Amino acid sequence: MIELKGLCKSFEEKNVLTDISATFENGKTSLIIGQSGSGKTVLMKCIVGLLTPEKGELLYDNRNFLTMNKKEKKALRREMGMIFQSAALFDSMTVLENVMFPLNMFSNDTLRDRTRRAMFCLDRVNLTEAQNKYPGEISGGMQKRVAIARAIALNPQYLFCDEPNSGLDPKTSLVIDELIQDITREYNMTTLINTHDMNSVMGIGEEIIFIYEGHKEWEGSKDDIFTSSNERLNNFIFASDLFRKVREVEIQNIEG
Ligand SMILES: Nc1ncnc2c1ncn2[C@@H]1O[C@H](COP(=O)(O)OP(=O)(O)O)[C@@H](O)[C@H]1O
Ligand SMILES: [Mg+2]
Repeated sequence: MIELKGLCKSFEEKNVLTDISATFENGKTSLIIGQSGSGKTVLMKCIVGLLTPEKGELLYDNRNFLTMNKKEKKALRREMGMIFQSAALFDSMTVLENVMFPLNMFSNDTLRDRTRRAMFCLDRVNLTEAQNKYPGEISGGMQKRVAIARAIALNPQYLFCDEPNSGLDPKTSLVIDELIQDITREYNMTTLINTHDMNSVMGIGEEIIFIYEGHKEWEGSKDDIFTSSNERLNNFIFASDLFRKVREVEIQNIEG
């Protein structure tokens, strides 16, 4: 479980995050949604320790991240897996070498055990066959699956994904979302996904927090969205005609 209590972050004069509190549970895939520039990436960077908030508390299963010393933080980072927008694969390494990378960095296991673990992770994302290919030789969806395999190689308790579907078509996005959700349940991880993709919201949006101009404007599930009267949320979700129509149908169903 990850708990945020009153997190604030600013850059020079500009407040980017204001008083963000939230709880993210084990075994659940929580979505952080909001339009571009609302503060999702800054929030995730604060949570993983790439940025330091000025105010607030950040608890990893009751362990207070912000008051830890460097060594303790480093140890906790070993429990985190990350799939960041920009953190691409290493182009000069094969798929297998990419997944081996964190194991080679951090694990004391024998080469044989590290290889076995990497192959296990590749198998979990259905990529055993692609092990000797280079990232440039496989599709965008396969690259994301390699990134997922690499992120879970060290068996993390916490998984962070910043816009994991960027650049993917809707069908492939759904495969990636469902894979992340399945793995989260399977290993009882606490998983956070940043997204502004409505398909993700409708596909796996069981726990959602909506960020608006750096504060938490709303939280709930995708079902709650249809009945919410929060105007900012509705403007964000129902900006497209398609979702406005879906909502009309849902409301008719609810009213019988
Ligand atoms: N290092 C930085 N210095 C100054 N401003 C920043 C920095 N990083 C992000 N911001 C600002 O913080 C706001 C939120 O950005 P971001 O978290 O990237 O939004 P999102 O991920 O929701 O699209 C934006 O206005 C952005 O310009
Ligand atoms: Mg972002």
